[in-house]
Amino acid sequence: MTAPIFLDGLTKFYGPIRGIEDLDLEIRQGEVFGFLGPNGAGKSTTISTILDFIRPTRGTATVLGLDSRRDSVAIHGKIGYLPGELAMYEKMTGRELLGYLSALRGVDTSRQVASLAERFDLDLDRRIRGYSSGNRQKVGLVQAFMHRPELLILDEPTNGLDPIVQQEFYALLREVSAEGRTVFLSSHILPEVERITDRAAIIRRGRLMVVAEIEELKRQAQHRLEMTFVSPADPEVFRALETVRSVAAVDRTITVTVAGSVDPVVKAAAAFEVENIVSHDGDLESAFLSYYSEDDDAE
Ligand SMILES: Nc1ncnc2c1ncn2[C@@H]1O[C@H](COP(=O)(O)OP(=O)(O)OP(=O)(O)O)[C@@H](O)[C@H]1O
Ligand SMILES: [Mg+2]
Repeated sequence: MTAPIFLDGLTKFYGPIRGIEDLDLEIRQGEVFGFLGPNGAGKSTTISTILDFIRPTRGTATVLGLDSRRDSVAIHGKIGYLPGELAMYEKMTGRELLGYLSALRGVDTSRQVASLAERFDLDLDRRIRGYSSGNRQKVGLVQAFMHRPELLILDEPTNGLDPIVQQEFYALLREVSAEGRTVFLSSHILPEVERITDRAAIIRRGRLMVVAEIEELKRQAQHRLEMTFVSPADPEVFRALETVRSVAAVDRTITVTVAGSVDPVVKAAAAFEVENIVSHDGDLESAFLSYYSEDDDAE
C-alpha cells in the first residue's frame, strides 16, 4: 500500500536561508498526523513544497503515489488543502465561492457544503469581505473537506476558530480518520496536537527532531519536582542522579526535571529537612519542549 505522503530527503533553501532540510517522513493511511513546530520552523515550507507551490532544492515528495512535481495537477484534484493564509475573492459570498471551487473540481458538493456550514455555524450568504477571520477560516475548511478527499493537508486549521467550532472540527477529524481517510495538519499548539493526532513530528529550524506516537511521547514526558527545604540543600546531590535531567536552585527551592522514575529524587530529598514538594505531572508539552530546547546552538 502506498503511503499517502512520503518525503525522501526533502530540502528547500530560500537562497542561503534554510527552509527545510533532509526531511524523511512517511504518513500512514487513516491517521491524523500532527506537524508541530514553532514559528518559522518550516511547516508551511514543507506543505508548499509537497503541493509544488515551491520547488524543492533537492529530495522528493510523493503524494498518494504521485510525484509532487510531475503530477501536481492530479494531486491537487485528489486532496483537500487549507492554506495557512487564505486569499479569497472578496466580492463573492461564501456560497458563491464554494460553488465556484466545486465547479473547478467538477463535482457537486452542495450537500456536503450545506452540512459542513451548519456544523461550523457559517452563514454562507454573506460576502467574503464582511467575514471575520474565524469565518474566513471556516470557508477555508469547508472547501478543504467538501469533496470528501482521501487526504487532507491543513496548515494551522484551528487558527481563529472559537472553542465550540474547534470541538466540531476535532469531531470531523475523527470521522474522517474512521473512514480511512488521512489528515496531515500543522500546528504550533501543543495541547491541541496531543488531543487530536495519533502521531506527530516536531520540526525545528527546518529539521525533523522526532516522529513519534503521541502515546509514546506521553511515556517519555518529563516530570518536574519543585522541592522547598527548611534550609538550602545541596543541588549537586540531585545532579548526580541518573534520571535527573536538569537542576535549578533558587534560595531554598530546588527544581529538578526527571525523565523516568522520581523515586531516587524523593529519597535524596529526604536527606534534608523538607518543607514542601510540588510535582508537575509529565505532559506532552514538556516532552515536546525538551526537544525544542535541546542543542540550541547546534546548526
Ligand atoms: N519566501 C521566503 N523567502 C525567504 N525565506 C523564507 C520564505 N518563506 C519562508 N522562509 C523562511 O523559511 C523558514 C521556514 O518558514 P515557514 O514559513 O515554513 O515556517 P512555519 O513553520 O510555517 O512558521 P509559522 O508557524 O510562523 O507559520 C523561516 O526561516 C522563514 O523565514
Ligand atoms: Mg506557517
